[in-house]
Amino acid sequence: MASFSFLFAVLAWASFLNAHALAAGGNSTSVPFRIMSLGASVTFGVGSTTGDSYRKDLEDLLVANGNSVTYVGTKKNGNFTDNAVEAVPGFVISQIAALADTAVPQLKPNLVLIDAGTNNCNQGGTVPDAGANVTNLINNIFQQSPGATVILTTILVNSVAAQDACRVTVNDQYTTLATKLQSTGAKLILVNMRGPDGPLVTDLADGRHPNDAGYVKMADVWFSGIQEVISKGLLTKPSTDVTAATGTGKTGHGDGNSTSSAGPAQTSTVATSAPSPFNSAGRRFYSSSAFAACLGLIIASAMA
Ligand SMILES: *[C@@H]1O[C@H](CO)[C@@H](O)[C@H](O)[C@H]1NC(C)=O
Ligand SMILES: *[C@@H]1O[C@H](CO)[C@@H](O)[C@H](O)[C@H]1NC(C)=O
Ligand SMILES: *[C@@H]1O[C@H](CO)[C@@H](O)[C@H](O)[C@H]1NC(C)=O
Ligand SMILES: *[C@@H]1O[C@H](CO)[C@@H](O)[C@H](O)[C@H]1NC(C)=O
Repeated sequence: MASFSFLFAVLAWASFLNAHALAAGGNSTSVPFRIMSLGASVTFGVGSTTGDSYRKDLEDLLVANGNSVTYVGTKKNGNFTDNAVEAVPGFVISQIAALADTAVPQLKPNLVLIDAGTNNCNQGGTVPDAGANVTNLINNIFQQSPGATVILTTILVNSVAAQDACRVTVNDQYTTLATKLQSTGAKLILVNMRGPDGPLVTDLADGRHPNDAGYVKMADVWFSGIQEVISKGLLTKPSTDVTAATGTGKTGHGDGNSTSSAGPAQTSTVATSAPSPFNSAGRRFYSSSAFAACLGLIIASAMA
């Protein structure tokens, strides 16, 4: 009996620590962010008066919280210095996957933000293979940039009912694939762009793309995913084994004071870094399912 009370005290303390870490610890990390924003017109910035999309708002939020951020990509759009992006308006999932196949091995982001599938729904209907193809895209990123973390978003609301219904079915597939990949320990976070904090139909510029206020909401939703990435300790140092230099980067000082900087080293063509502690499948240190399994074992052995 005594050992039982002790066991539950330990478990209560552990879950308190876990909840505490998730609530307060997730706004900044000393690991520099090398972010690739991957997608189509929304990521590029259509509907945004500046072309910035959510990207500048998100960078400002990260930098204000003391993080160092560089965007990488083979294209540029937006009225700000660090405007590299990997997105082309109109692209469907297979085209976005082809963009990633070229850009990810060159630029080796340590965080990829994926918004894909909106253009697969332009005729309504359903897209039964969206989840399978996005799973392949994510697994390829884990191979092409070892240690990278991926945040996938569900796709936005649309003002045309048939297109919106299609998007809902795609999002169901994304929820399923996220659960599946997470259960294998993949460094994947899913954020919900259709939740209470995401853009509403009234935050769209043209029924399809967010307006500036909608992009601010998108930045907040991505930031919530990044808080989860930080809390779980998923981010690893950017690789020095890159073949192209892009992006100018911003460094935060944790007090809202930010200065432009050259960003993390990206010009070396020789791998000088120590091997990544992660394998190429992108395993993370722990998962809540591993924690739950462990808990089950402890309880089972206490009952035996
Ligand atoms: C984390 O960042 C958000 C957004 O800037 C802010 O509202 C919140 O107060 C921050 N939390 C901490 C603990 O700094
Ligand atoms: C671009 O940024 C400059 C400097 O902040 C500003 O003066 C200008 O109005 C911006 N242009 C647009 C289209 O937002
Ligand atoms: C999924 O991938 C297959 C094989 O490359 C392709 O034929 C199909 O068009 C893709 N579907 C979507 C929705 O991307
Ligand atoms: C902002 O940060 C820079 C670099 O650390 C420092 O030189 C400067 O004094 C800071 N400015 C303010 C207003 O804190």
